[in-house]
Amino acid sequence: MSPEALLGFCVLVLFAGNETTTNLLGNLLLCFDEHPEVVERLRQNRVLVSGAIEEALRYSSPVKTLPRVTTTETVLGDQRIGPDQFIVVWLGSANRDEAEFPDPDRFDMEREPGYGSQSPDAHTQANARLCAEAKRGCYTKPRKPSSQL
Ligand code: HEM
Repeated sequence: MSPEALLGFCVLVLFAGNETTTNLLGNLLLCFDEHPEVVERLRQNRVLVSGAIEEALRYSSPVKTLPRVTTTETVLGDQRIGPDQFIVVWLGSANRDEAEFPDPDRFDMEREPGYGSQSPDAHTQANARLCAEAKRGCYTKPRKPSSQL
């Protein structure tokens, strides 16, 4: 790996690991401020903590949008998207999709997990819809050619 690629990777991990986690913790505090009854229940029952974190990831997504490029023609809802199109995936909106999450604007730490969120991994919630679509081979990440790394 070239020094430039190594430096690029360090910058990626610094931003990917730092800003997201900072956003999650800040958003979690805002959720607690909005819902004091949640804090009271967490004080009484620590078992609910992981559900509260999962729900904060959904309710107030630390990453709101991601860029992608379509590889094949696909249809999302009633929207047809051709191949090789730059698109912006709104994770924040997908996480409030009433077709997936009943009463989506309610903070509910005992909610049934949505896409892939059975695993308590921070990435699952944020990446859930992307993964579902990526598995269908609909799009890829915009990438620099390796010669430019
Ligand atoms: C709440 C915490 C986190 C959230 C919400 C989060 C969210 C995400 C999302 C949405 C992506 C996909 C980006 C894309 O595909 O364009 C991603 C990728 C990535 N994340 Fe996280 N992340 C979190 C924590 C971390 C931590 C702690 C690290 C490392 C210390 C990390 C390292 C990475 C890396 C290296 C990628 C790139 C993976 C790739 O390109 O294949 N993330 N993260």
